[in-house]
Amino acid sequence: MTAREESSSPRMQRSRKDALLNQMRGIDRKKPQVEADTVTLKRAAARFEDLAEYKQVQMQKLAGELVQIGNPFYRTHDVGAGATTQIDGRHLTNFASYDYLGTNQHPLVHAKVQEALARYGVSASASRLVAGERPVHQELEGRLAKIYGTEGAVVFVSGYLTNVTVIGGLMGPDDLVLHDELIHNSILTGVRLSGAARRFFRHNDMAHLQELLESFQGRFRRILVVAEGIYSMDGDVADLPGLVALRERYGFWLMLDEAHALGVLGETGRGTFEHFDIDPGQVDIWSGTLSKATSSCGGYIAGNEALISILKGTAGGFVYSVGLSPPLAAGAVASLDLVAQEPERISRLRRNGAQFLKGARKAGLNTGLSLGFSVIPVIVGDSMRAARLSNDLMAAGVNALPIIHPAVPEGQARLRFFITSEHTPDQIDEAVQLTAECLEKLVAANFGIASLDRQAMARLMSEMASDG
Ligand SMILES: Cc1ncc(COP(=O)(O)O)c(C=O)c1O
Repeated sequence: MTAREESSSPRMQRSRKDALLNQMRGIDRKKPQVEADTVTLKRAAARFEDLAEYKQVQMQKLAGELVQIGNPFYRTHDVGAGATTQIDGRHLTNFASYDYLGTNQHPLVHAKVQEALARYGVSASASRLVAGERPVHQELEGRLAKIYGTEGAVVFVSGYLTNVTVIGGLMGPDDLVLHDELIHNSILTGVRLSGAARRFFRHNDMAHLQELLESFQGRFRRILVVAEGIYSMDGDVADLPGLVALRERYGFWLMLDEAHALGVLGETGRGTFEHFDIDPGQVDIWSGTLSKATSSCGGYIAGNEALISILKGTAGGFVYSVGLSPPLAAGAVASLDLVAQEPERISRLRRNGAQFLKGARKAGLNTGLSLGFSVIPVIVGDSMRAARLSNDLMAAGVNALPIIHPAVPEGQARLRFFITSEHTPDQIDEAVQLTAECLEKLVAANFGIASLDRQAMARLMSEMASDG
């Protein structure tokens, strides 16, 4: 073997690669490495099948089979779902779409998406840092900053990711996050990632928040308070005036998640601050998602120049993740344009929400805390009853999905109705009436966890345990 052949042999290449990797790690390793085949097995890898989470999913399936409830989740739509949809060839009235303002299927929106698709392709291809900008990103960010009257805005590829990466990056182990007890899972995940201490305040209870601020204010470097504009499971509205008053006094950062409020609250759909006629500058971090009233995908933060610069320079979900797909950014801009041109979409949504809420209450349905904007739950009790009610309603021509434990506490399971500007008064009345009728039958039959055949359940559980 010549010296040149020797230096390009796979062994030499590997040792050069190892040396280079060690140099990058800052390790000066002259000592021989332990050969892989001399490593003795210290412990076996855990099996996914043994995890409690897997058993929980299996249990839910078994319980469903036992009482013969088909799985209401993951239904396949044959068409774009809005106020109506088609599932398994059946035409249904649909209350399971976030398309609050009916922009998802609008020709003007499609035209703008197609234009962006033709021009930029499907993907931004890499992080905007390296793949560069597309003008449509800046157009969207400019529009969002204008809505909130902020110095800037930044968009991310998902609403969930936005909350995770922003809180995960901004807060640290010396900080405290105080959040409403009904806050979205994305916020909780962000806090966990940040390592910050976390306390919840009772839902919309400003006195409780003040109590927590009084007892904790001196013990932490920074304090962030997080609430949702419209609460995603319950449909009521954050006490923004109360939050702003406390912010003035206690000097925390206030973050409001406008996922369900953008396009819904306020005369022109600018959200919770417009609803209460409050200066948007009183909120430090406006967060939201593009997947609801703007019928696209992605999330955003609006705030001052320093905040946006920090996020664009350091937030993992921005720096190390692909830029928002240009057609999706264009779709969000087009939806905002359409709503600005046709503000009656907002008033129609409001009318429809109010009609549903009034009708549901009159029919004796428990709509919880909902104020009748975009989200109206019908609380039915246990998870099994909610799943069965969803299936019975679908058989009657209405698609509305259950929310069950652990997304809500057991005993608080519900069907969640998303109202859109495109529902007709007849569709709303009919859906309310059918819900009341179907639920009445289930209540009369005492259908739910309480009526489960416990012996059969115990048998199935022990079979499952022995399988594991
Ligand atoms: C309050 C809230 N924040 C964030 C999100 C996440 O948004 P996305 O589904 O667009 O990722 C949701 C989703 O429904 C939500 O309800």
